[in-house]
Amino acid sequence: MDIRDSESFFDRLFSQPLVRLTLSGGRGEYTRAVFRPVKLKGGEAVQIEKYTSTQVFHENLSSDLAAARAKELFAEFTFADGANSACTLSMRRTKSGKILSTVKNVQNTREVKSHDREKLRLLPEGVPVPALRDLGVMTPEGEIVKGMYDKYCQINRFLEIVDDAVSADPRDSWNICDFGCGKSYLTFVLYYYFTEIKKTKVTMTGLDLKRQVIENCNAIAKKYGYDGLSFRCGDVKDVIGELSPDMIITLHACDTATDYALAAAVEGRTDYILSAPCCQHEVNAQISPSGYKPISCYGILKERFAALATDAVRARCLEYVGYETSVLEFVDFEHSPKNLMIRAKRRGGVSPKTSAELKKEIEDFCTELSVRPLITKLLGVF
Ligand SMILES: C[S@@+](CC[C@H](N)C(=O)[O-])C[C@H]1O[C@@H](n2cnc3c(N)ncnc32)[C@H](O)[C@@H]1O
Repeated sequence: MDIRDSESFFDRLFSQPLVRLTLSGGRGEYTRAVFRPVKLKGGEAVQIEKYTSTQVFHENLSSDLAAARAKELFAEFTFADGANSACTLSMRRTKSGKILSTVKNVQNTREVKSHDREKLRLLPEGVPVPALRDLGVMTPEGEIVKGMYDKYCQINRFLEIVDDAVSADPRDSWNICDFGCGKSYLTFVLYYYFTEIKKTKVTMTGLDLKRQVIENCNAIAKKYGYDGLSFRCGDVKDVIGELSPDMIITLHACDTATDYALAAAVEGRTDYILSAPCCQHEVNAQISPSGYKPISCYGILKERFAALATDAVRARCLEYVGYETSVLEFVDFEHSPKNLMIRAKRRGGVSPKTSAELKKEIEDFCTELSVRPLITKLLGVF
């Protein structure tokens, strides 16, 4: 790879595992920036230390994002000295703006310090996501707007769970639906993740009942030329059997909207379901106030009990129709009390014996509670 400009310098440097990079001769806000590999909770990352005359700022980025950050930062520096596992490189910008560089092929040893109490976020603070500025989650500099930190944590964690699924799947293009997308923070971030971070083709549809919100989302998608992202106004109930995405996501789609979304996924033979439910009123209304007295005489306990029962039945019904299903806490309670997620992957068929056992298990549970959750009807369990 020839080094003709600063871009190709950083492409060459980051094409192999990074050993170090120092930018110096800063002419702007920072006097110096040092890049080093570090080991964090979520895997290896690049830690960047940016020095002003009085302070030092840290950020942890994936290698791809760190390369992009180095290219961007170098606009305000004169020198770059770096090494990867296969070579040592240096570069200087002359007064006339010309780039002079040298490369020595040499095997360098890497030292990767462990910072495993810190976490590598797919969406780090300080890296602006354009649509999130429009939606009031980030400032133009990529800082999180006060009051939006919980939403930011939810989106980041949801994204990590999507990343786990996508990284283990060989397909090279994705079709995704977000049911009950609302203002679509997550939808825009996912689109950004596929197109900017994974560099993978994606078609995404956000669906919501609120016309005004949908119009706003379509305007933002158009503003940024997000051709693969569109928003529809409608009820998820009406799209069952109409869409067959690879993945459906729901983040706090209200009450039975989650059930219709699960049914739409099953009907569309969707491979991945990531659904964080919210306000499960249906079963709460069906549980008799005189049954399970120690629970039902306290409104909050009855509500939580009904919510757990609803999600338990949803998860087991998905198992029944051929999904490998788990239920996880996708964020800490402090970031959202509605922090459970049903995660399911289509395995394509269960044995008739398991199927009969599951059906009985679900039916017995519902009989015990004297409830008939919508999902059992939508998926034809009993
Ligand atoms: C609590 S908001 C969550 C929005 C978004 N997913 C988020 O996390 O920011 C729930 C959204 O679900 C939408 N919704 C509720 N029932 C729906 C249905 N049956 N079909 C489509 N959207 C629905 C509501 O209009 C609302 O925007």
